[in-house]
Amino acid sequence: TGIVVAIDGPSGSGKSTISRRVAASEGLAYLDTGAMYRAATWWCIRQGVDLGDTEAVAALVREMPLEIGTDPRQPAFVVGGEDVGVVIRSTEISTRVSAVATNLEVRPELQRRQREVIAVESGRGTGGHEARSGGRGVIAEGRDITTVVAPDADVRILLLASEEARLARRAQELHGTADEAAVAATRDQVIRRDADDSTVSNFTTAADGVITVDTSALTLEEAVAAVHQIVST
Ligand code: CDP
Repeated sequence: TGIVVAIDGPSGSGKSTISRRVAASEGLAYLDTGAMYRAATWWCIRQGVDLGDTEAVAALVREMPLEIGTDPRQPAFVVGGEDVGVVIRSTEISTRVSAVATNLEVRPELQRRQREVIAVESGRGTGGHEARSGGRGVIAEGRDITTVVAPDADVRILLLASEEARLARRAQELHGTADEAAVAATRDQVIRRDADDSTVSNFTTAADGVITVDTSALTLEEAVAAVHQIVST
């Protein structure tokens, strides 16, 4: 069976980029759980439901026809036949996703789907699909993977970075620069969203047995190397 690697961290800690790089170089599948919450948000808005209506949102998410791509080089997300890979990164989704992610009736449904993907990709499930995938192993990344989704993962890592570093990275990503205006424009997305998210998940302190990597002073290459070393030993 394949290895299961769980990586959590706040916005701008570098978890998506690092997870994809390490998965690609190790030949592992990659599960972006944040993209699932983003896709659920897109789907609910598309269906015209009020995101504050927790019952209606949860019912819609339970029926969401989501196809989850796990190729670290091209993790495609398709909802009802529509490729949502680009639209789920929009500012609208980024500012509204926490409303769906903090819905306590939504989380168990997405967590269940996440465990299913992890079981299939690691070859540890009991359903019968596992044989086909060969159990190449998987890196799953998000806010609650080390604690709730896969607390029994072989490797569990919490990526942290200072607020300053996280804001600068996200500003660079969204605006192509990390000058004062770009950082200010990013502040709500990063700080407010993490504050909202932290009401339902703990991704700021490492749970027992979770290895912390602080990426504040590391270049991307250095952070990838640090995580790579933990995964491959
Ligand atoms: O890249 P960034 O960390 O900013 O966000 P993301 O990983 O794309 O996750 C988007 C949103 O999904 C987060 O802000 C959380 O609201 C939610 N999320 C969650 O609740 N639990 C997870 N395991 C992953 C994401």
